[in-house]
Amino acid sequence: MDSQTAPLVGFGAGKVILLGEHSVVYGHPALAGPLSYGVTARGSKAKKSQLALPDTLSRAQRALLTGAFQRAARQCGSPGVKVSLESELPLSMGLGSSAALSVACVRVLLKAAGRKDVPAEVARLALEMEQEFHGTPSGVDHTTSAEERLILYKRAPGQSAGRARAVKSPRPLKVLVALVGERSPTKKTVGALRERQARWSARYTRLFQQIGTVATEGAKAVEAGDLEALGDAMNVNQGLLSALGLSSPPLEDMVYRLRGLGALGAKLTGAGGDGGAVIGLFLEPEQAVAKLLQLGVRCFSSQLAGPRAL
Ligand code: MEV
Repeated sequence: MDSQTAPLVGFGAGKVILLGEHSVVYGHPALAGPLSYGVTARGSKAKKSQLALPDTLSRAQRALLTGAFQRAARQCGSPGVKVSLESELPLSMGLGSSAALSVACVRVLLKAAGRKDVPAEVARLALEMEQEFHGTPSGVDHTTSAEERLILYKRAPGQSAGRARAVKSPRPLKVLVALVGERSPTKKTVGALRERQARWSARYTRLFQQIGTVATEGAKAVEAGDLEALGDAMNVNQGLLSALGLSSPPLEDMVYRLRGLGALGAKLTGAGGDGGAVIGLFLEPEQAVAKLLQLGVRCFSSQLAGPRAL
């Protein structure tokens, strides 16, 4: 199928950060993988580049999304395509919904422009959209979505884009994702941490370094197929995130519940704050998912990497 007849569809996976959120903003590595859920963008031929948005969105939300979309469209030569979106991801819960949306849109724009949607180019253009949404993101969210594989991501301070190395897992990596409380906007959580970091720089720098080390050790554990060691790294990371002031009672409560249900490790994922997503690493998460759903907890499971069971 050539680029003229290929369907104009693009998928952007949501993501979870297994290790290293926040410290990744300060130049330390983070281990992140794509969820099997995400955002699908569909394009149809039109006179100009256009994003179709539901009427339920506020004026400010529409302006933000349109501005970000047009920024990426211009980089693709403004192809004549109208793009609509379907999302399986909860918004603003730490699962990379804006990055998934950016990646899905960019894939359609590149296809409409007759260009290849290779991961590096998708990531470069999705960063343009993410900068509209988040200002100066580390880039781990949209890079994980564009790469569609488990990565160890690192961005040098002051640089806009980082580098990703694929982390191969000989074993399936399965997580339970639970959503709790009301999540604070990422910008607010990242900003408040930056103020504490500026005030007590030496102490916070030490904690960020510790998290970076734990993320590197976690990547090695994945490659060695040692899921117990990965789980322990996640537990230690949670303690360090808590020390940084990024956890809260609803998040802590879910972390302990997941450990009680047999998780090898459990931690908040994403920006944290008053609520958001908590992940637990399980060999088989389905029983724990069924139990929590019965209790009214919003949760699901996803495989992040490794060979899939038939
Ligand atoms: C958000 O998913 C991850 C953070 O580390 C922010 C970022 O990397 O830009 C909290």
